[in-house]
Amino acid sequence: MKKVTIHTLRKMKRAGERITMLTAYDASFARLLDQAQIDVLLVGDSLGMVVQGHETTLPVTLDQMVYHCAAVARGTQHAHLVGDMPFGSYQAGADEAVKNAVRIVAEGHMEAVKLEGGAEYCDIVERIVRAGVPVMGHIGLTPQSVHKLGGYVVQGRGEDKAARLVADARALEEAGCYSLILEAIPAELGAEITRSVGIPTIGIGAGAECDGQVLVIYDLLGMNPEFSPKFVKKYADLAKVIGDAATRYRDEVRAGAFPAVEHTFSSDKPGATPSPVKLYSVAGSE
Ligand code: KIV
Repeated sequence: MKKVTIHTLRKMKRAGERITMLTAYDASFARLLDQAQIDVLLVGDSLGMVVQGHETTLPVTLDQMVYHCAAVARGTQHAHLVGDMPFGSYQAGADEAVKNAVRIVAEGHMEAVKLEGGAEYCDIVERIVRAGVPVMGHIGLTPQSVHKLGGYVVQGRGEDKAARLVADARALEEAGCYSLILEAIPAELGAEITRSVGIPTIGIGAGAECDGQVLVIYDLLGMNPEFSPKFVKKYADLAKVIGDAATRYRDEVRAGAFPAVEHTFSSDKPGATPSPVKLYSVAGSE
């Protein structure tokens, strides 16, 4: 299987092949998603909410991102790897942004970074790209600006706001972004932006006409029954699967039914002719 690169993604857009992208935060998930031939794995700062349990993505630090990026990189062979620049890691200026993007690539072993914001971030994008790091843009609902936006609300409704997002997308392409996330915007606007730029657009709640789609893996797997936004499709009910498995384990341990014979070690030394394994005989305990 060939490695997915920024060139692969551009070719996919030109060929009209849809790009698949999911978030991953650790090596085990990365390995499974990579084996499923997902094109792009994003180590999203959504980990602040789904892994760390915060209300927003804002408390996530650069050190935490680097840690999760490195874990995902260890589990990945084929997918293109993108690491989110967390809140505060690029807003203060280009020098700081370049230094932090370089850490995500050098220590986190990502192949690109993603940052949120429109035309106002073009100078930052240019500087990071000039340093040799590909940048994925992110416009529409930008969760790091949740307080400025007044909540997690659909963006780009109305002609002026839509035109502004189209202009942002073009400016980010001009500044050197190789791809764009479009989050929580009307489907027609997702389609218009996708037609207006030469770089691939990847939508989350931005309609079916984007060049690709991304979802938070915990949402796709149905890990949180309370979280069911319109744009998410649950492809599994892991909340139930995990809850049921943990309950069965609890009941079996309480009843003495686990561990059974096949789960126990015998006291035989390695290499000795195995004798029948006795229930609950653990090496060294007899
Ligand atoms: O942090 C994240 O997971 C994201 C995706 C939702 C695009 O930014």
